[in-house]
Amino acid sequence: MFTSEAANLGQLITGPTAQNLIRVFFLQERLKSVAAGIDFKSRQVHVIGGGIMGGDIAAWCALKGQRVTLQDREAKFLTQAIKRAHKLFQRKLKSKRLVQAAMDRLMPDPRGYGVKHADVVVEAIYEDLEAKQTLFRDLESKVGPDTLLATNTSSIPLESIGEALENPERLIGLHFFNPVAKMQLIEVVSGRVTDPLLMQKGAAFSRSIDRLPLPARSSPGFLVNRILMPYLLEAIELLGEGVPGPLIDNAATRFGMPMGPVELADRVGLDICLAVANKLAPVFNLEVPEQLHVMVDQKQLGVKTGAGFYRYEKGKAIKENLDSQFHAPNDLADRMIFRLLNEAVACLREHVVEDEDLLDAGIIFGTGFAPFRGGPMHYIHSGGLTRMRQRLNELEQLHGDQFHPDSGWTNLSGA
Ligand code: NAI
Repeated sequence: MFTSEAANLGQLITGPTAQNLIRVFFLQERLKSVAAGIDFKSRQVHVIGGGIMGGDIAAWCALKGQRVTLQDREAKFLTQAIKRAHKLFQRKLKSKRLVQAAMDRLMPDPRGYGVKHADVVVEAIYEDLEAKQTLFRDLESKVGPDTLLATNTSSIPLESIGEALENPERLIGLHFFNPVAKMQLIEVVSGRVTDPLLMQKGAAFSRSIDRLPLPARSSPGFLVNRILMPYLLEAIELLGEGVPGPLIDNAATRFGMPMGPVELADRVGLDICLAVANKLAPVFNLEVPEQLHVMVDQKQLGVKTGAGFYRYEKGKAIKENLDSQFHAPNDLADRMIFRLLNEAVACLREHVVEDEDLLDAGIIFGTGFAPFRGGPMHYIHSGGLTRMRQRLNELEQLHGDQFHPDSGWTNLSGA
């Protein structure tokens, strides 16, 4: 037993799984270091829009010690947000005194008095360019000269929102992920004219609320949503071809994803998936599967309506038993993962993030991409560039243009 343990432990420590997980640790350190040495301390945050995102961002900031004012034009959203915050504080802080202190730090502020005193303003109103422009035009005249101005938009280019500002270089993106209390990553987004110092301040602020900042360039979907979308669309395409959802999800979880894409789409909300897909489709030549339109038309939006691709009972997906006669195609995981990899290569070519390590870090911490594989780019290199590209060519011949290798493959180191 001892001999065998010694031999196996050696293999475990030096094997690819352990090495990749050590890599993930260093990737995390890399993200933390983005904010190293930057002298920016925020004590007061003002969040505008108390919906799902704004409410939860405000709660998270208060949990992490910031004084927070939360503004919404409708009182009912503020009430709901404060209730959710209370639950979060109870779960995380346990002691009554600490929960009360956190509640005291979070103030509903329907009239927006907090704007004047805020070190950071985060806009999280609904996804509409004109509404955001109107809001920022008004904000710019009210905030102090050193206040950091940020938007949580998930798809509107910063340049477009910035058109409303006299000083568009002041605007950065702070793109949080849903659910805010669970997702560690924040994409800190810069537009063409954004002041680099403010990007650093955005990163420092993200660290101060215990989040990992990923500097990304403003382009549709930024990094994480853009890379995730082709993977999700391929899964929906497979459903349309008659492959049962549980098989698709199993293929993804066996690869190492934390949750299958079919269930993930249901949990994000099919309406949100469709809205993001519609924004990205014309820019990146994506085909949005008909089935997604049909489901949204029928108001089958996923967990929030009790049914999407699966039915949900008490928040749990009911997955039907598989027909034992059904023979799953053996390239399910490859079809989904290679679309994700191809998009990752395209993002690097377009410099959405600075380098391969930042891309891997963003996708691991923003989507949960199989950490033991070390990230999409690391996975490509481990598989061998030529072999991975050949596989993409095979998939293109079998399944169509969506697998056409991006021109960035030839620029990768080792190509
Ligand atoms: P939501 O619809 O839940 O909340 C929007 C809130 O803004 C509502 O409570 C509304 O009353 C309020 N509002 C609208 N106009 C306002 C104004 N002029 N002044 C004050 N309050 C106003 O929307 P959600 O999902 O929270 O999204 C907000 C932003 O976050 C959007 O830009 C979205 O793209 C982005 N986002 C959403 C994610 C998600 O999973 N829902 C993930 C990451 C970003």
